[in-house]
Amino acid sequence: MTRHINNHSNDDAKHSDLSPQEQQGEVVLHQSLRPNSFESYIGQDELIANLKVFVRAAKKRKQALDHVLLAGPPGLGKTTLAHVLAEEAKATLHTTSGPAIDHKGVLASLLTSLNEGDVLFIDEIHRLSAVVEENLYPAMEDFRFDLFVGDGPYAKAVTMNLPRFTLIGATTRVGMLTGPLYNRFGFHAQIHYYNDHDMIAIVKRSAQILKLEIEDEGVQEIARRSRGTPRISNRLLNRVRDFADVDNEGLVSKTIAAKALDRLGIDHVGLDLLDRRYLTILAEQFQGGPVGVETMVAALSEDRGTIEDVVEPFLLQQGFIARTARGRVALDKTLLHLGLK
Ligand code: ADE
Repeated sequence: MTRHINNHSNDDAKHSDLSPQEQQGEVVLHQSLRPNSFESYIGQDELIANLKVFVRAAKKRKQALDHVLLAGPPGLGKTTLAHVLAEEAKATLHTTSGPAIDHKGVLASLLTSLNEGDVLFIDEIHRLSAVVEENLYPAMEDFRFDLFVGDGPYAKAVTMNLPRFTLIGATTRVGMLTGPLYNRFGFHAQIHYYNDHDMIAIVKRSAQILKLEIEDEGVQEIARRSRGTPRISNRLLNRVRDFADVDNEGLVSKTIAAKALDRLGIDHVGLDLLDRRYLTILAEQFQGGPVGVETMVAALSEDRGTIEDVVEPFLLQQGFIARTARGRVALDKTLLHLGLK
């Protein structure tokens, strides 16, 4: 069972050129495609193998799972994995986010509504305020929460005992977590971009669920252009399906997929308009760098979070750019890709 405790800004909305209504549609679509068990989860093999042991051991000891920190770029399945973990542990999942817990009282009401063994998922956990974070420490460590009742000289400290619960924190910025918070998680999981093989399997699975008629080469085309990110492949699959319905009687062929993705501004390696603007500015305006992130953000007039969490991690991972002490530099691959070499 899942309970959404607070509305929160899901990072589904980031790095998207869709209207809020369309984005909501994409969120619903993505949720219906989410795996809900280890069995149906594709990729992240080592991590999943470890999590399986971890869940089995907790079950054997009849204990709540230890707290888990999930780190990685947006769209790789941190929320999905929290659902899978709760499902596998047969626990009730409560979801919220760092910015939604805007004062200590919100945290108190969240924690005191938990039952033994429940899972509390906090997305964007690096965005908790210092006060909220400090109050989370005793809850994580000793399953207690200190409340002050009353005001001034009559104020009294009351300690509340909490049930043993599991905290799953998710972050795109593991470096922004304080040491004390980071160290209170018993398991640190890094989610990586999916390789081509896994992306192909994910697109195939989604197409099957959506009952799409799709050729293997159509699957490959979408998988290759999805930046190793299931959320993107699910969105692109839906867009490609529109073109297939209108132009090809619903059949997703390689040609239809390529045509649709070209028209959406996504090139043959999955870079979109913003990625290419980033690379062009770095290569041409700044002669390949090094350029500080502030300068890049100003030159692009884009949100810093999008640049740092979404654009750069993929360009780094793919070897288009490198990070040096003096800033970002363009690598040869960028010059080749942009046709400058
Ligand atoms: N859909 C989104 N992410 C997935 C994954 N890791 N495995 C299977 N289907 C998915």
